[in-house]
Amino acid sequence: MPQTPKRRIKSLYLNIAFLVTGAAILLFLFNAPKETTAKLPNDPDHSRFQNMKKKEAEKFCTECHSPEGGYPLPEGHPPKYRCLFCHKRN
Ligand code: HEC
Ligand code: HEC
Repeated sequence: MPQTPKRRIKSLYLNIAFLVTGAAILLFLFNAPKETTAKLPNDPDHSRFQNMKKKEAEKFCTECHSPEGGYPLPEGHPPKYRCLFCHKRN
């Protein structure tokens, strides 16, 4: 069925809206702040975790990162169930 001029204009507007929305989303993502959460340090204390499964590795974190371990998490630390989701490995 050939398009009537009216319909053609409507779909032109829809296409423009689509493009503008896409551009806005891209711009938004592009301007997101840099990831600032500290990475897993690359030192002897942490090197054995680099190649472990994340879930395995996370069992060991609290050996040191707890009040008893000597290197507790800072006060106001966010919920900490999956350390390596936030503290990325290098
Ligand atoms: C053997 C003890 C030990 C274990 C186990 C350990 N850490 Fe650490 N971690 C430390 C020490 C000591 C520091 C502070 C000195 C430093 O920055 O290396 C630290 C620092 C950190 C920091 C801060 C880095 C920074 O740039 O400030 C993060 C994040 C961290 N550890 C995450 C983890 C995670 C996640 C695990 C488990 C996969 C883990 N650690 C297991 C001893 C340990
Ligand atoms: C939901 C995200 C998230 C999870 C999960 C998480 N952390 Fe953190 N952690 C942070 C943020 C945010 C900070 C403070 C900002 C920063 O890293 O500099 C922080 C800070 C730290 C610090 C101090 C870093 C410094 O530079 O002083 C250590 C050590 C740490 N976390 C270890 C852990 C361990 C061990 C676990 C798992 C038991 C864990 N974190 C789970 C987000 C997270």
